Amino acid sequence: MKICRTISEIRSAVSDLKPRGTVGLVTTMGALHAGHMALVKAAADAHPSVIATIFVNPSQFGNPKDLETYPRTEQADLAMLEKAGVAAVFLPTVAEIYPDGDETIVETTNLANIFHGVVRPGHFRGVATVVTKLFNIIRADAAYFGEKDYQQLAVIRRTVRDLHAPIEIHGVATVREADGVAMSSRNVRLTPADRAAAPILIASLAAAEALLQMGETAETAAEAIAANIATEPLATLMAVDIVDPTTFAPVAGKPTGPVGIMLSAQFGEVLLIDQKEVAL
Ligand code: PAF
Repeated sequence: MKICRTISEIRSAVSDLKPRGTVGLVTTMGALHAGHMALVKAAADAHPSVIATIFVNPSQFGNPKDLETYPRTEQADLAMLEKAGVAAVFLPTVAEIYPDGDETIVETTNLANIFHGVVRPGHFRGVATVVTKLFNIIRADAAYFGEKDYQQLAVIRRTVRDLHAPIEIHGVATVREADGVAMSSRNVRLTPADRAAAPILIASLAAAEALLQMGETAETAAEAIAANIATEPLATLMAVDIVDPTTFAPVAGKPTGPVGIMLSAQFGEVLLIDQKEVAL
C-alpha cells in the first residue's frame, strides 16, 4: 500500500493504478471503524483499485475544541486499510489541501443550510469544499459514502451533479453496534454513561417508523421522537426532520412515498446523528 502525503505523490500513484481499471475512492477523517471498512469493501467489490484518504478537515468543524479533540489513530488506520487491500492512502497536511491564500469554497446554498446545517453552520460548506478538492486531486471513477451521514451524502450528490464532476457517488448502508448505535468515530468520545444512553436514537427512529407505517402523519412521528428523546436525561434533541429522500423537502401530513427521518442529539460535548429511510 502506497502512503502518499503530497498531491504529486497521490497523483502519480493513481496514474500507476489506472491502467489496471477503475479506481474507487473512500474519503475519511481517520479513526476508522467497521462503518468505514464497509465503504472500502463496497469500493473493492466494484473496482480493481481502491484509494482511501485520511484528512481531518478543519473547514467542516465549527467548534475548535471538536477539531482539536477529534480522534487521530493513523497507525491503526493504515493497518486496517492495508489489510483490506487498499492500493494507496492519501494523508495530506492542512497546508497541502488549503495552500496559502486559499479562498475558494464550494457550497450547496440551500441543502447546506437546512436541517443539520442549521445546527452546524458552515459544516456542509466545509465538506463540499474538501470533497471537491479530493475528487479533483485523485480523479477516481467512483466514491463511496455512508448513508448514516444522510444530509452529507445528499450534499455531495448535489455538488457532483451541479458541478458536472466526472465521478459516480454511491451510498452504503449504516453499520451499527450490537445495541443499534450507528458506528461513528465520535462514539469513542462519549462518556460510558452517554454511550449507554445513545441507543435512544435508534429506539426513537424505530418508534417514528412504526407510526408512519401505521399511517400516522410526519408531525406525529416527529413528536414521538421528541417525546422519546425527552425520556433520556443525558440526551438533548437538536433536530428532527422528516424529509423527501431525494429533494430533501420537508414532508407534512401523511407521507405518500418514502421518507427520510433525520435526527441529531447532543450527549455531553458530543453531537450524534442518525437517520432512517422508511419505505411507505
Ligand atoms: O464523512 C467524513 O468522514 C467527512 O465528512 C468527509 C466526507 C471525509 C469529508 O471530510
